[in-house]
Amino acid sequence: MSEYDGPVVLPDDPSLGPEVQIDYPGYRSTRWRAPKRALVTLPEEFHALEGPVFGDDSVSPLDADLTRQHEGEPLGERIVVYGRVLDESGRPVPGALVEIWQANAAGRYRHQVDQHPAPLDPNFSGAGRCLTDSEGRYRFVTVKPGSYPWGNHENAWRPAHIHFSLFGRLFTQRLVTQMYFPGDPLFAFDPIFNSVRDPRSRELLIARFDLAAAQPEWALAYEWDVVMRATPFEGT
Ligand SMILES: [Fe+2]
Repeated sequence: MSEYDGPVVLPDDPSLGPEVQIDYPGYRSTRWRAPKRALVTLPEEFHALEGPVFGDDSVSPLDADLTRQHEGEPLGERIVVYGRVLDESGRPVPGALVEIWQANAAGRYRHQVDQHPAPLDPNFSGAGRCLTDSEGRYRFVTVKPGSYPWGNHENAWRPAHIHFSLFGRLFTQRLVTQMYFPGDPLFAFDPIFNSVRDPRSRELLIARFDLAAAQPEWALAYEWDVVMRATPFEGT
């Protein structure tokens, strides 16, 4: 198949800003998920509302190690994924809840919807979470996820990725996104990756391989910083 470079479909309302022009024909689900109407501006007091607030006691340090959630160790290439959560001014966001989920090394999710013929790993659930520290840092230990087929179009395969969900310290700091690995041959063919139309923005979705942070005889490492811009619901 050829590289995907689909046209942009804009909602009918010309008053809508670019932040809601996110329907991307090559990624079929956006047909149902993209907003069809102008976004609602929340009242001013919501912008300063602190929370959700997560107590340290609800997140265990072990939650950030996806290789130690079962009797044995999962198969696959062990990796450390670390980085910082920053706000638009480059300041760290401490106490942010970072949640991840991913396929196992064979590209299979432990989920009833995923029934494609790749093996499940009895030692891998594929979900983890942590809170950022006082400098906005997070760190996970996991295995590198495999690529997997999806039914979006003929012979569609996702580049290896880890899903991220972040709750900041403000009501409007919320982000759900995906982290990718450098040099993946599937980038050019993936409508989800390419639904981010700006090439520089797409680059920001790719983690940096960090040999200096790799742990000899134990794990490779990738660094990926996340900037949490307040959502478009904040007054623009
Ligand atoms: Fe996925």
